[in-house]
Amino acid sequence: MRVVIVGYGQMGHEIEIVLRNRGHEIVGIVDPVKPGASALTVDEAAKAIAGSPGTGPVVAIEFALPEGVAGNVAAYGRAGWSAVIGTTGWEDQKTEVLTNAADTGMNLVYGSNFSVGANLFVRLARYAARLSARTGEYDAALVELHHRRKKDSPSGTALMVAEALKEEFPDKTEIQPETLHRRVKPEELHVIAGRVGSVPGTHTVILDSVADTVELTHRARSRQGFAVGAVQAAEWITEQTGIHPVEAFFDDMFQ
Ligand SMILES: NC(=O)c1ccc[n+]([C@@H]2O[C@H](COP(=O)([O-])OP(=O)(O)OC[C@H]3O[C@@H](n4cnc5c(N)ncnc54)[C@H](O)[C@@H]3O)[C@@H](O)[C@H]2O)c1
Repeated sequence: MRVVIVGYGQMGHEIEIVLRNRGHEIVGIVDPVKPGASALTVDEAAKAIAGSPGTGPVVAIEFALPEGVAGNVAAYGRAGWSAVIGTTGWEDQKTEVLTNAADTGMNLVYGSNFSVGANLFVRLARYAARLSARTGEYDAALVELHHRRKKDSPSGTALMVAEALKEEFPDKTEIQPETLHRRVKPEELHVIAGRVGSVPGTHTVILDSVADTVELTHRARSRQGFAVGAVQAAEWITEQTGIHPVEAFFDDMFQ
C-alpha cells in the first residue's frame, strides 16, 4: 500500500511506526509546520507523487485538524486517492464533506474512534449488557478515567459505550453524564467521568445486582491502538468502494 500521512502530530507519528512495521510504503508526509513533514498542500503533494516513479493506488491517512478536512478531502478526490479520516471535530460539515467526496467517486472511511480495542470493548459491553438485562437482576453504569489535559467529558468512547448499554437495557432511556446531587432515576444510565494525571483512557462497565458485580474494563496503554486500527482501515478501504463510517470496517473485522 502507498500511503500519504496527513497531519504529523502525535497520531501521525504513531501511524508512521505502524505503517513501517506492516511493510507499507510512505510516499508523503504532509503537515504545514512539523519537522520531517512536507509543507506542501495535498494538491501539490499529489502532483509530486504522480510525477514520481512508483505505481499503484494511494491512500491518505489523515489525523490533523478539523479546519482542514473539507479542503483535504476534496483534494484526495481530485488526486484519485482513497482516504482514512481520523480527524475529529468536523460534525458540522459532515454532510457537505461526505456528499462532495461521494461525488468524486472516491473511497473513504471516517470515524472518531479507530481503536481496535475500544471497538472490541463496545461490542463486548453490548453483549454483556444484553445478557444481564435479560436476567432482570442487574443495573448498569459506566465509569471512565482520563488524563487531566482532556478537553471533553465524558469521552466520546464513553458515550459510544453508554449508547450501546442504553439500547440493551429496556428501562434505561437517558444517559446521565452529570454529577448527581440527588438519587439517580431508574431510567437514567449514569456515566461517571474522572480526570487525573496522565491516564490514556480507562472505561469500566459496571453491571450490578443484589448478589454480585460484573465489571468489564478497557484500559488503553497508548495511542498505538488507534494507529493500528487506522492502518488496517486503510488496507480495508483499498478493497471497498464508496464512503463508509468506521463501524462498517469494524463490523467486517468482527464478523
Ligand atoms: N479517530 C480516532 O480514532 C482518533 C484518535 C486519536 C486522535 N484523533 C484525532 O486526530 C486529530 C489529530 O490528533 P493528534 O493527537 O495527532 O493531534 P496533534 O495536534 O498532535 O497533530 C495534529 C497535526 O495536524 C497538523 N495539521 C493541521 N492542519 C493540517 C492540514 N490542513 N493538513 C495537514 N496537517 C495539518 C498540525 O500541524 C499538527 O501537527 C485530532 O482531531 C484528534 O481528535 C482521532
